[in-house]
Amino acid sequence: MNDIEKNYEDFISTVSHELRTPLTSIRGFAQTMLASWDKIDDENKKKFLKIIEDQSNRLINLVENMLSVSKLQSGKEALVFKETDPAPVINIAVSVVKSQYTNRNFEVNIDPKTPSILVDKDRFMQIMTNLIENAAKYSDENSTVKITTAYAQNCEFVSIKVSDTGIGIAEEDYERIFTKFSRIDNPLTRKVQGSGLGLYITKNLVDKMNGKITVQSSGKETTFEVLFPVCNLETLAREKCRQ
Ligand SMILES: Nc1ncnc2c1ncn2[C@@H]1O[C@H](COP(=O)(O)OP(=O)(O)OP(=O)(O)O)[C@@H](O)[C@H]1O
Ligand SMILES: [Mg+2]
Repeated sequence: MNDIEKNYEDFISTVSHELRTPLTSIRGFAQTMLASWDKIDDENKKKFLKIIEDQSNRLINLVENMLSVSKLQSGKEALVFKETDPAPVINIAVSVVKSQYTNRNFEVNIDPKTPSILVDKDRFMQIMTNLIENAAKYSDENSTVKITTAYAQNCEFVSIKVSDTGIGIAEEDYERIFTKFSRIDNPLTRKVQGSGLGLYITKNLVDKMNGKITVQSSGKETTFEVLFPVCNLETLAREKCRQ
């Protein structure tokens, strides 16, 4: 078996497993409810339906992530670069995650001097949502997720940092977390749902937007930093020229 075939086989077996787990659970709870409807009290019916809803959401998230991966790999991800003010996008991403993680605090510090950046706005939103969601997902209840923006690298880039005080990431895992289907084996990661594709997609999109992404985790504070090129007429002209 050559490398391509091996990769393909690994991919199919990971995807089948990722699909089978939630599907088995959805089928199991639906069958239990159908077979024993009269014997189950309302509270348990609600509990079972909630599991079916959660597992369906997990499947939708997985399928959406796989579509993003396939678009990225086939080179069909056509990015539309536009001058974008990062602040409103960050605020929307925060409110999306906040509605799912109501027991986390979110602190947004946007330097009023933060300039516009040259990005694809929708994909930039996807990047911010992935990072902010991870920060909330891999930290404890009532902890605070911080998002900070600043000028960086001789004013050529805008830096956006997303920090949490959660489970942390060991240095030896810094590279691995950006690869496909990689999840770190720890009690919290096992407890929360995820396909291990979010950071792979995020890094690919950041690279395509001429940005950079790094992670730093010391003790319990974890910070993901993304850098995006500042938008000015010169860079706009250069991008137009490339299209
Ligand atoms: N802020 C963080 N703190 C601690 N661990 C993290 C953090 N962000 C990511 N990780 C680890 O990196 C792994 C990969 O993250 P990634 O976002 O790619 O996948 P995921 O969150 O498991 O699933 P999804 O595809 O739904 O995003 C996670 O499973 C988790 O173990
Ligand atoms: Mg994630």
